[in-house]
This record gives sequence, C-alpha cells and structure tokens, in this order.
Amino acid sequence: MTVHIGAKPGDIAETVLMPGDPYRAKWAAETFLQDAVCVNEVRGMLGFTGTWKGNRVTIHGSGMGMPSLSIYANELIRDYGAQTLIRIGSCGGMQDSVKVRDVIVAMTASSLSTPSSGIFKELNFAPCADWSLLKAAVAAAEAKGTPTHVGGIYSSDVFYDERADLNEQMTRHGILGVEMEAAELYNLAARHGRRALAVLTVSDHLLTGEALPSEDRERSFGDMVEIALEAAFAG
Ligand code: HPA
Repeated sequence: MTVHIGAKPGDIAETVLMPGDPYRAKWAAETFLQDAVCVNEVRGMLGFTGTWKGNRVTIHGSGMGMPSLSIYANELIRDYGAQTLIRIGSCGGMQDSVKVRDVIVAMTASSLSTPSSGIFKELNFAPCADWSLLKAAVAAAEAKGTPTHVGGIYSSDVFYDERADLNEQMTRHGILGVEMEAAELYNLAARHGRRALAVLTVSDHLLTGEALPSEDRERSFGDMVEIALEAAFAG
C-alpha cells in the first residue's frame, strides 16, 4: 500500500494503462480484460488488474491534470515497479486536419509548466514518447484503419484557458491536440527509465467547436484502448 494506492505488492502489473477518469478505467477493464479485479479504490481512484491475450495489465485512473497524474505515476513506478505506462484519454483537436474521433499518438508533449518544472529550473526539457511504444501504436492503428495522427501535443495546466494566444501559438507550431497529463508522464518515465506513451482520442475541437456525441464515445475510446494494448505487448 502507498499513500494513494491500496493495492498489495504484486497486485499491479508491469504494464499500466492510465485513463484520466476512474470510471473509464472500470469500463476498459470490464470490456477488454479477462478476470479483472479491482486493486485500488482509495479516494475513488479505481484500478483494475487482469489479463489481455494472456498478458497481465493494470488499468488505473490518473485523475485530471499533471499534479494528479504525478501522484499515481510516481507510486506505480517507485512502489509497484510499473515498467510501461500508457496514458489513454481524450484531447481537444488543434489542427484542421485533425477530426473529432481521430486518434493522436503523442510523440512529444509541450507545456507551460509541469510538476517537474521545479527540478528542471531554467532547462526546457523536451518530454518525448518511448520509440518502441510509439512505433507499435502507429502500426496497430494503421492495421485497424483508425484515422491516426502522430506528432506533438500540448499538456495544458488549465481546461478553462484564459490565454487564447497560447493555444494559437501551439496551433501555429503544428501541435495536434491539447490535454492535461502527458508531459509529466513522459518526464517521470525519462527520470525512472520506464517506457511511456499517450494515445488520445479527439473528443472535441478547439477550432471548430465540434464535440463527440456521447453515444459515439465508447466505440471511439475502445479503438484507443486496443491500440494501447497492442502497443504494450508488440514484439
Ligand atoms: N483542453 C484541455 N484538455 C482537454 C481538452 C481541452 O480542450 N479536451 C479534452 N481534454
């Protein structure tokens, strides 16, 4: 047990998928894993461990925003030995070529700040995905025929952003989408020598104002979960 995770030693698999929403962790575990058991419910942050095609997997919520993700990812890495951590979540599209329902595989994650800014100080560290996971996720997405974009994303500190100019600069510099967690996941993976990736479904669009209708969400999010699982266990 850690401060925020009630799982026993050995309850957490080496491969962890991390949706922001704990109820999406429950849905994904019930939908995609065999023999899934709940291993954490401290503060309602649900985690489940089961198997996918015979491979042990944990699906554990991260909460919203980098400070929350940092708590869970730190404990999963340092106390439970997680080796491969894949964020599965939603993002807002930031390019005309990116459509609602498309998948984004995040090569890099730009930010204004992260919980690691304090240790990086004047350094602008470039958080980037693990290449083997990135390559395998793109191959899995192509095999499924899911419209997929690969490139940089923006991990914002705020959902209700009062600085429209920052989003404009991100769009201008080719950033594909905005979410709130990946940059710190990539920082932590780099620090601890683990593999990390973010696979995201575009749920809304900053340029068009379009949003994914609720009845479409499960199918679109399902593609993303399968891509993440295929990537985790490729090769
Ligand atoms: N901003 C930040 N995070 C998000 C968004 C957004 O527009 N959409 C989904 N996650």
